[in-house]
Amino acid sequence: MSTTKGLEGVVATTSSVSSIIDGVLTYHGYDIDDLADNASFEEVVYLLWNHRLPDYEELQSFKKELADAAEVPEAVIEQMKSYPIKDVHPMAALRTAVSNLGLFDSSADETSEEANRQKAIKLQAQLPTLVTAFSRIRDGKDPVAPKTDLSFAANFLYMLTGEEPDEISEKAFNKALVLHADHELNASTFTARVCVATLSDMYSGVTAAIGALKGPLHGGANERVMKMLSEIGEVDNAEPYIKDALARKVKIMGFGHRVYKNGDPRAKHLKEMSRQLTHITGETKWYDMSVKIDEIVTNEKGLLPNVDFYSASVYHSLGIEHDLFTPIFAVSRVSGWIAHILEQFENNRLIRPRAEYTGPDRQEWLPIEKR
Ligand code: ACO
Repeated sequence: MSTTKGLEGVVATTSSVSSIIDGVLTYHGYDIDDLADNASFEEVVYLLWNHRLPDYEELQSFKKELADAAEVPEAVIEQMKSYPIKDVHPMAALRTAVSNLGLFDSSADETSEEANRQKAIKLQAQLPTLVTAFSRIRDGKDPVAPKTDLSFAANFLYMLTGEEPDEISEKAFNKALVLHADHELNASTFTARVCVATLSDMYSGVTAAIGALKGPLHGGANERVMKMLSEIGEVDNAEPYIKDALARKVKIMGFGHRVYKNGDPRAKHLKEMSRQLTHITGETKWYDMSVKIDEIVTNEKGLLPNVDFYSASVYHSLGIEHDLFTPIFAVSRVSGWIAHILEQFENNRLIRPRAEYTGPDRQEWLPIEKR
């Protein structure tokens, strides 16, 4: 038996949801650059789940289905209030709340195509409601009920702040959602597929995936990028800070990627959004500092920014609290998780690899008094 640490380079399944070929990311064949510049997030979700873009009527009815399903059971919100609110990270709260949603869905364990479709709609529609409700509850505010006449992106920002966003914020947030929606067999998606390949249910698959996304080597990096930027504080401090960290072999969050060696195609979009948004807020230092760090890490280590690097200053500029960055990643990526879960169900086989044993040879059993 041979092993590959971290399963690097191992092709573990076939999939038609998204591809990374020669550094180009596509969702079902559509280049991420085209989608980022043109698509609404709802269109992208439809594409991921149905393997084609919707026509106008289909998109309107899909948007309505999502909007109508956005309210979560009151009991789930009430239970959230009993979490140890001040000490709980919103990603941990989201993981628990999604698991909780499953308890209140009587069709959670139904496996028909229609039941799975209904669960997909609910999960996609309700994650934003959970994330924003948690954020408000911990700030001592009442959750804001979703509106049915707003886009998915606008509704998130509305439920977070209680105010409808301006067009620039809505467009930027929509683009960020599009860019994060799917990414082939990343760690959280693989987790979701492993979970449901046992024929467990969709809520379990998404709960497991949230747990995997939470880690700093995956989705948790974006919050830590902002922590680093805040610690650096000013552009002039970037060089000594980064060089010192690299000398101490500390990983710089938001850099490097298992699959892309010549750059993450999503990063350039987020970089430009960061430039524009920091210009609007007047806090250009976050962008300037990010560009400086980018230059240093590229020169010193040959590592390029991934999706998490510039998304940090983008979300900060939209006025979003830093520990909500990773939950927002989940609000988008749940679309990809669901697409992969549905694909796994269509042609399922238990995922059960082997391990190369490295423990001692056969040992003789000793009764406890002789050990
Ligand atoms: N900063 C400094 N050094 C790094 C970084 C980094 N961000 N990333 C990789 N390296 C170094 C490692 O220390 C290692 O060096 P060594 O060979 O001298 O020990 C070498 O590059 C290879 O790194 P691995 O961690 O083995 O690479 P792997 O493919 O396993 O990891 C990963 C990819 C996890 C993304 C890594 O680059 C990393 O930890 N980056 C920082 C966290 C991050 O930004 N995660 C988000 C990724 S994108 C996403 O999941 C949404």
